[in-house]
Amino acid sequence: MLVGVDLGFGYCKGLNEAGERILFPSVVGTGFERRMAGMVYDGASEADNYDLVVLGDTPEHYFVGHLALAQARDAARPFSDERSAAGEIRPLLLTAVGALCKGEPVTLVTGLPLEPYFKQAPGLKKSLERFSGTEIRLNDRPLKITFEKVIMFPQAVGALYGHLVRGGLRPSGMIGLVDVGYKTTDIVLYDAGAKRVLEGYADTIPAGTNDVVVAVQDEIKREVGMAPSPEWVEEAVIRGIPLRFARRKFDVPGMAAAKAGQLAELVASRVARRWRDHLQRLEVVLLAGGGAPLVQGALSRLAPCEVLPDSQFANAAGFLAKGLVSVAREKASSGGK
Ligand SMILES: Nc1ncnc2c1ncn2[C@@H]1O[C@H](COP(=O)(O)OP(=O)(O)OP(=O)(O)O)[C@@H](O)[C@H]1O
Ligand SMILES: [Mg+2]
Repeated sequence: MLVGVDLGFGYCKGLNEAGERILFPSVVGTGFERRMAGMVYDGASEADNYDLVVLGDTPEHYFVGHLALAQARDAARPFSDERSAAGEIRPLLLTAVGALCKGEPVTLVTGLPLEPYFKQAPGLKKSLERFSGTEIRLNDRPLKITFEKVIMFPQAVGALYGHLVRGGLRPSGMIGLVDVGYKTTDIVLYDAGAKRVLEGYADTIPAGTNDVVVAVQDEIKREVGMAPSPEWVEEAVIRGIPLRFARRKFDVPGMAAAKAGQLAELVASRVARRWRDHLQRLEVVLLAGGGAPLVQGALSRLAPCEVLPDSQFANAAGFLAKGLVSVAREKASSGGK
């Protein structure tokens, strides 16, 4: 089974070749026996709540995603800045792969942000390959995770690649890609004529959708003296519902829309500076990531912009496309055996 997994600072996105998808917060906490599980229907589907046991001499029990946010006291986003330490991502990756592999051996395509990619991708690939053979129990289902192959591909470039392959596009000009994530915004410039990414024009801006959440939190704190948790604010933004907090009702989606302007301006000014000498040659700027719609207005002033369909899954979809192409190439070179 071919599986593409995009482990973001904020959320894990995954797709398999059967068309199934997963999306959960990149949050891990210590798991425990839930004696109350199922006693009260809490509205969340099983798929949003991952109870992971990594089997072995000393089994490790984790809550992952929404279940960690809701029940683990030590729930945290486990990434250090580089996002490449295999130990940190192990519970997230095993959960994502376990949920998508259907018990079959897996060809995994996953990535790293562009900046650490060249230095760290080979090491991370080896570490991930060593996870093969790990036995887990995911939501009480026993599974053995087997990797036939691990393929690494840079994030952001993944989104661009997926778009070109899916559309069968052969553009000839300059294509920009802006991937607005939770903590970071990656920008990449692709010269479609020469078929290469222009190295000096890539950048990682340390800003993303989480800054909008923090700005909303701060405003509520100024008004009522206490700040709601970032998860409550984020959930209200994503679901488009008001937040009840400290006996008040806050129009959090409206507040977030007002604060998003700052993020958009910051991204637009960095893009304008970094791509300065190519701005007039841009054919289109593709927008990926969960925060893509937030920057569309500001970036449209610089060049024609397009939010990629299903923008939050753009990297995962690109990884899957990369996997399909490499598997097809391998078959062709082994004479179709
Ligand atoms: N259904 C949804 N679930 C989660 N996030 C959503 C959803 N719909 C929109 N979003 C937005 O997408 C944002 C996360 O975007 P994305 O998943 O691209 O970030 P990331 O890849 O985890 O971060 P980074 O690229 O910095 O590592 C959220 O903060 C939220 O604003
Ligand atoms: Mg991302």
